[in-house]
Amino acid sequence: MSGRDLWEASTAVLRTQRAVAGWRASLPARFAGLDMESFAGLDPPLPPPVVACLTDWVSLPVRNLIVIGSTGSGKTSAAVAAVDSVVSSLGLPARFFVYTELLDAFRSGDLRVADVAGFPLLVIDDLGGGRSTATEYEIEKIETLINRRWLDGLPTVVTSSLTPERLRGRIGERAYDRLREDALAVQIATPASRRR
Ligand SMILES: Nc1ncnc2c1ncn2[C@@H]1O[C@H](COP(=O)(O)OP(=O)(O)O)[C@@H](O)[C@H]1O
Ligand SMILES: [Mg+2]
Repeated sequence: MSGRDLWEASTAVLRTQRAVAGWRASLPARFAGLDMESFAGLDPPLPPPVVACLTDWVSLPVRNLIVIGSTGSGKTSAAVAAVDSVVSSLGLPARFFVYTELLDAFRSGDLRVADVAGFPLLVIDDLGGGRSTATEYEIEKIETLINRRWLDGLPTVVTSSLTPERLRGRIGERAYDRLREDALAVQIATPASRRR
């Protein structure tokens, strides 16, 4: 190996380490340490088509990924596991945000849309969640974010417990259509053992 090869290999390793550290620091403690292997090995096992869908996305993460299911079905775990695998293998910077907290951060000025729009991978957990109905302001922010990522060809990963119709009403037609375009959608049914 030449000195140049060695230098390139070590910067790639450093880049990946930095990407993994930044991504994992954005995760809630509950979802730390999840990757596709540990996720697929959880008990009860996920239906093979769900695992196949996620594995498919992980191997070529250029499309949006939409994970739908009721609360407790394992949506957030699925999204985190899939993105963690991509970050660790490709070294792509990624961040995890809970939808309502992201909107709060926009509202308070702690974050601007531009601060999060450029991450190669972005997870928005529980999209359209929260009790109150979305305000015009919120719809405009989420629409700007999703549209910017669509324009730049950057994949967004979302989880939601809403039906497609309700999600569309919640985040606005434009954001919904951009998100759905060329997206891989996977629905997770809650295993009987975890049903409440
Ligand atoms: N494949 C799985 N097998 C077993 N337990 C799982 C699986 N996926 C998630 N869980 C567990 O189920 C609970 C709910 O998962 P979570 O991802 O938070 O669901 P959701 O985001 O749909 O509410 C968590 O305690 C999680 O550890
Ligand atoms: Mg969740």
